Amino acid sequence: MSVRIRKAIFPVGGLGTRFLPATKAMPKEMLPVVDKPLIQYAVEEAQAAGIEEFIFVTGRGKTAIEDHFDHSFELEKTLEERGKTAELEELRRWLPKPGRVAYTRQMAPMGLGHAVWCARDLVGDEPFAVLLADDLILADRSCLAQMVDAYPEVRGNMIAVMDVPREHTKRYGIVDPGRDDGKLVQVKGLVEKPTPDKAPSTCAVIGRYVLEPSVFRHLDKGTRGAGGEIQLTDALAAMIGAAPFHGLRFTGTRFDCGDKVGFFEANLAFALARPDIGAAARAAMQSYV
Ligand code: UTP
Repeated sequence: MSVRIRKAIFPVGGLGTRFLPATKAMPKEMLPVVDKPLIQYAVEEAQAAGIEEFIFVTGRGKTAIEDHFDHSFELEKTLEERGKTAELEELRRWLPKPGRVAYTRQMAPMGLGHAVWCARDLVGDEPFAVLLADDLILADRSCLAQMVDAYPEVRGNMIAVMDVPREHTKRYGIVDPGRDDGKLVQVKGLVEKPTPDKAPSTCAVIGRYVLEPSVFRHLDKGTRGAGGEIQLTDALAAMIGAAPFHGLRFTGTRFDCGDKVGFFEANLAFALARPDIGAAARAAMQSYV
């Protein structure tokens, strides 16, 4: 089987209850960090990894995402008339090519596993990526690109992982590790949100996956897990032994933008890292602390 990863799924069908009221009428993936929606960071990360086809699994507020990844005729015409060439070029730079974006609707928010399963016919029989836009990663080389680089060596299923303080294991899916070379860690098992004393390691699962299509056969069963939801991690755990399963310790910093404080921190970090506003952002920040 080819190991070229051409397709990526972006599940954007969650309810985003932690971000109400902002997420009442729009998906949380449209929340901006500095001046760019979370979903655009994820799409650009995928583009940097060579992804060619972009599959959005939406819930409510689908139109905002559809419009964002399409030409805005009025806006572009106005920018053109006003001679704002740089802004116009920047708007067009990251637009996926025509026919390379697909939308499917997750008709009920039945969990991440269910969202991924909804894209099964659009993915077909090839390995693919999944990116959760609310996990935002600041990195020199795109996190997904780092995974795609490492994938041919191991194949099977791959997740991005990072080491977290032991007292935080309860917030994450935690890897039961096998062989570990410091970068690639073999996944022998996954434990969902264990207390620090029960955690088999401090290696936490982050929202980036490269998966083999046989995962759909497991998701077909529709088995409900934690919270009554169809969990992607349950399907991956069920494949252990049948397919290789590895975690990649990526280089970069991850921000949990599904959480208010994580989102705030992401705004600080991304503003400070920006050449155009970094110095001003630093000065503004210093006046508060
Ligand atoms: P979360 O666990 O953060 O859930 O989903 P949520 O509904 O988005 O947010 P809260 O907890 O209510 O505030 C993790 C990822 O899985 C997607 C979400 O969009 C997010 O990217 N997801 C989750 C779906 O696409 N569908 C679902 O049914 C559940």
